[in-house]
Amino acid sequence: MGVIFQSLGRTIVAGIVILLVILGLAGTLGEIGKDAHVIYPMVMRWLHVMVGVMWIGLLWYFNFVQIPSMPKIPDEQKPAVSKVIAPEALFWFRWAALATVITGLLLASLNGYLHQALAFKRDFLAIGIGMWLAMLMAFNVWFIIWPNQKKALGIVQVEADAKAKAARMAMLTSRFNTMLSIPMLYCMVAQQNGGFLLGAAS
Ligand code: HEM
Repeated sequence: MGVIFQSLGRTIVAGIVILLVILGLAGTLGEIGKDAHVIYPMVMRWLHVMVGVMWIGLLWYFNFVQIPSMPKIPDEQKPAVSKVIAPEALFWFRWAALATVITGLLLASLNGYLHQALAFKRDFLAIGIGMWLAMLMAFNVWFIIWPNQKKALGIVQVEADAKAKAARMAMLTSRFNTMLSIPMLYCMVAQQNGGFLLGAAS
């Protein structure tokens, strides 16, 4: 066991192997190829939720853990966060955001309602609003949070004044995204239950 859990890569592979065993036992593997129009959206939905959890999990880590903890950390220890942990977390954060947008749009396309959802057609209103909210959040990640974090963390060198402003801008936008994550996630999961009209088939 130690051999597996001492390596993150092997741990991920072990998780995939367990999934394949479950799918084999459930008989799902035998169905692959027969029902491609069912399997592809299912696999995409799984990938989408995995990368979405990675993104929003890190967003909530920043807001629930890192930002509130920074004032409690002695100044000489702060670089451990700003130079090591935060850049690593931001790497997974921004690429997971992009992967979530791509898998989400592909999922909507495989489900056959991409255009209707983006145009807020009545039957796809919940997922349409969820998709636009999440895309606005991803835009904020790439075009506001990340450029400002690069200045705040010293990846891009700027004056002390500009650095403080950038840190504040990144923090406020991160808070804004945390706020939007609440309605966004409701809209994501609501579509399966008939959108906003609970129980009605969509
Ligand atoms: C960024 C743009 C996004 C797009 C275009 C998108 C698109 C979609 C689509 C089309 C569905 C299928 C809805 C259905 O018919 O049931 C879906 C479901 C879902 N999405 Fe997203 N999504 C995005 C962001 C996110 C994010 C950030 C999360 C965070 C975890 C997320 C989590 C989920 C979950 C949990 C489901 C429900 C899966 C289920 O009910 O089986 N999505 N999304």
